[in-house]
Amino acid sequence: MYSKKLYGFIFLVGLSIFLMLENLYPHTSMASSLENNKTPILSQATVVAQNTSDFVLPPLTYDYDALEPYIDSQTMTFHHDKHHAGYVKNLNEAISPYPEFQGQTIEELLLNIDTLPEDIQTTVRNNGGGHSNHSIFWSIMTPDSEGEPTGELASTISRDFGDFAALKEEFNTAGKKQFGSGWAWLVMNDEGKLEIINTPNQDSPLLEGKYPIMGNDVWEHAYYLKYQNKRGDYLDAWWNVINWSEVNQRFLAAQDFIDQ
Ligand SMILES: [Fe+2]
Repeated sequence: MYSKKLYGFIFLVGLSIFLMLENLYPHTSMASSLENNKTPILSQATVVAQNTSDFVLPPLTYDYDALEPYIDSQTMTFHHDKHHAGYVKNLNEAISPYPEFQGQTIEELLLNIDTLPEDIQTTVRNNGGGHSNHSIFWSIMTPDSEGEPTGELASTISRDFGDFAALKEEFNTAGKKQFGSGWAWLVMNDEGKLEIINTPNQDSPLLEGKYPIMGNDVWEHAYYLKYQNKRGDYLDAWWNVINWSEVNQRFLAAQDFIDQ
């Protein structure tokens, strides 16, 4: 009699603890399950992936005024702290009602955008793209640019463009010809070749299955305070602040991406 009551009591205590833990950590088992089912898509070397239910604004690794005179401090401050922060906020708000997608990286969300609920596809395309694109953008700039491509990237540029000068010209033309807001990109296509493309708005090259190696933001918010309507001058100046060792890392990650 007493032992039956005791076993019943122990069972109820155990059940209560289990239910309490489920309440405290409701997404743990789901996130783990997604993790286990995930095929690694991108190299971890330089990706901006964040396996968390909340995407965060990555801090700059240099001061706001570090890229002057090519990019001014005020532009960097607004661009990073307001524009990029806004994309992150909107992305988190869009994803929050859908915990089943919260364990995915931003790259996975963009690569599989058609699998998302229809009501958030456009928001993720715009704001998830904005988060991914800007995270790359900050990381591939530095006040201590080497001036020219380095590593294996340098020889592949010669193979696919002839020389670095030809790449620069094609890239700047893509930036100038992008009507309205968008980006100019150096990407790797699915055949492992380097390409220059431009994309409108905040569209990521990942939407086309192309890996973004290097991108320049040609939205007016990226240059208007200093350059006004002279987008070409901004495009020319930007080559002075490129972090070529980071771009080379992204080139190596691109090869891993294409090989998968
Ligand atoms: Fe921007």
